[in-house]
Amino acid sequence: MDPRPIGVFDSGLGGLTALRELRRLLPGEELIYFGDTGRVPYGGKGREIIQHYARQDVAFLRSFDPKAIIIACGTVSANALTELSAENDLPIFGVVGPAAQAAAGATRSGKVGVIATAASIRSGAYEREIARLDPSLTVFPQACPLFVPLVENGRFRPGDQVVELVAEEYLAPLRHAGVDTLVLGCTHYPLLRDVVGKVMGGNVTLIDTGAACAAAAVQCLEEQGLLARRETGSCRYFVSDSPQDFARLAGIFLGEEAQGSVERIEIEKY
Ligand code: DGL
Repeated sequence: MDPRPIGVFDSGLGGLTALRELRRLLPGEELIYFGDTGRVPYGGKGREIIQHYARQDVAFLRSFDPKAIIIACGTVSANALTELSAENDLPIFGVVGPAAQAAAGATRSGKVGVIATAASIRSGAYEREIARLDPSLTVFPQACPLFVPLVENGRFRPGDQVVELVAEEYLAPLRHAGVDTLVLGCTHYPLLRDVVGKVMGGNVTLIDTGAACAAAAVQCLEEQGLLARRETGSCRYFVSDSPQDFARLAGIFLGEEAQGSVERIEIEKY
């Protein structure tokens, strides 16, 4: 048993989709969430900048002496997990491995699509991980840079012509390739599940990376005897820009009002 908190971070507030799943699975844990709202988005940035930001995000969370850190961000997981794990002596979980495993287990046709930010797709992390698990599978990667701003502006519901048009354009090559499994490789994409499902058709399995990561982390912490086993947990939120817009965006990603304090920090100091 370990009463210390679990740190969770993302480039912004999209990682709350993973936090939500974590809270559902581990209601007794103390969770510390950091969203780098002052520097979001990471998805269009280069690998070195992403790694630099991610090191600062981890350094901030380490000031709480966490027992583990979960990278809710697809872009950081794809570009910095190896480095962060090598540099830190605590378990760090990313979304790529668990999502690749879920996709490899789900596909029947052997054709797996991956949609994510430009930086995640450019990293090739999903292709490498899926090939490692099963070299016979073919991966069809597709960057979808317009999805994040659309979701953040509330444009993610079926029937919204703008998001449906964009989704149609991004997903057409994957549909034509005949993928039967699609990894939603970005924090924001669980909100697009209905739109993506409508474009891809009901026979395509959609993999939620945040949920896959949360489940894998919980299993690992349980095996290592690191869970807190409290009745009631808590959550504290930290951001690097004004907390003003926090409530609106947190509501979108959590699906409910965020409970717990929200504080601004100077991430450049870490
Ligand atoms: N959190 C990022 C991800 O999951 C999306 C937003 C961004 O580009 O920073 O890849």
